[in-house]
Amino acid sequence: MNLLITGGAGFIGSNFIRYILNKYPYYRIINLDKLTYAGNLENLRDIEANPNYAFIKGDICDEKIVDQLVSRKPDVILNFAAESHVDRSILEPQAFIKTDILGTQTLLEAAKKYSIDKYVQISTDEVYGSIKQGSFTEQSPLKPNSPYSASKAGADLMVRAYSKTYDLPVLITRSSNNFGPYQYPEKLIPLFVTNLLEDKKVPVYGDGRQVRDWLYVIDNCEGIDCVLHYGKVGEIYNIGADNERTNLEITKIILKETNRDESHIEHVKDREGHDRRYSVDSTKTKSLGWQPRYQFEEAMEKTIQWYRDNPNWWQSLKSGEYLEYYKKQYQKRMYVKDGIF
Ligand code: NAD
Ligand code: DAU
Repeated sequence: MNLLITGGAGFIGSNFIRYILNKYPYYRIINLDKLTYAGNLENLRDIEANPNYAFIKGDICDEKIVDQLVSRKPDVILNFAAESHVDRSILEPQAFIKTDILGTQTLLEAAKKYSIDKYVQISTDEVYGSIKQGSFTEQSPLKPNSPYSASKAGADLMVRAYSKTYDLPVLITRSSNNFGPYQYPEKLIPLFVTNLLEDKKVPVYGDGRQVRDWLYVIDNCEGIDCVLHYGKVGEIYNIGADNERTNLEITKIILKETNRDESHIEHVKDREGHDRRYSVDSTKTKSLGWQPRYQFEEAMEKTIQWYRDNPNWWQSLKSGEYLEYYKKQYQKRMYVKDGIF
């Protein structure tokens, strides 16, 4: 199978590419990524030389490059590319509208033009908004509360529109909060782990009692794999771990694992429009044969150990001295490797 993956140099996309090339060594992947601050070719260093993998630097909003790549007729387009951080969306919403909505529509348009067999949109549980009790199903209304989640909801609606209007064969996954290796150290878990490894304080927003459902990134990759191969075209699939924790609970686990005490906690001003709780019902995805495999405690230990073992990876990101060499080198690389589809 030939896959065009967008946003594959980010956290989930890079884990997904590694997972797919290991599981299906005969699949071929082109990874289109703009290399924003969140895209990092170090995430894929071990894969770079694989003959079944090619990287192209480019923007999903760029019709020309998208057309060039989609005209190669991949069997599937999987769109991971997005501006993904809620705090940044509160400060600068426009980039989110561009990439998350316009970028998605650019990909959909090319998928329509070249009659691509399957388009998979990687979405989020945040599109449903916050829920006090119970869990959202795929039928729940969209009530996004941040510019990030509103832009992701806009993308989902555009995907739906292309399915209904043009009969484009689409699928959407909506997962809960991922954690694991290669997550940019602005998100809660990698930020707190790396701050504590540096013996710095950790900024807990508000009372810290907000709830998230934490999913190990490999479990999400397996869920997306399952939806890609067994999902019904036109359908949406929630992917959650049934593993709800407050932010303070997560903080205390990380403090314990890094041998720090609670004096490292700093309660700071709350995030504007902060969603209190996310929760999705994943029954539908489980009916395809998927379920999360990793125990939360084991996955957290593995994750913290990964950040301990890879200080160069996160220190260069946190210090801002950041992969300019690779960005420039790959700027020129607008051709596709021989042997790829
Ligand atoms: P990330 O921020 O780590 O990676 C995003 C990637 O997209 C980066 O490599 C970046 O360079 C690339 N990108 C950004 N704008 C682009 C553009 N215009 N053109 C091409 N590439 C571009 O994000 P992530 O955490 O890996 O999330 C991946 C996807 O999964 C996103 O769509 C996100 O909304 C969704 N998601 C994330 C989570 C989570 O917990 N991280 C949970 C649910 C859904
Ligand atoms: O639910 C899925 C979503 O999870 C994804 O769609 C997003 O791309 C991803 O960023 C994530 O969004 P969150 O806002 O839930 O993740 P974040 O790691 O930013 O924050 C998790 C919780 O921790 C949230 O309640 C805010 C809080 N927090 C976060 C940071 C960065 C803090 O208390 N302090 C912090 O410094």
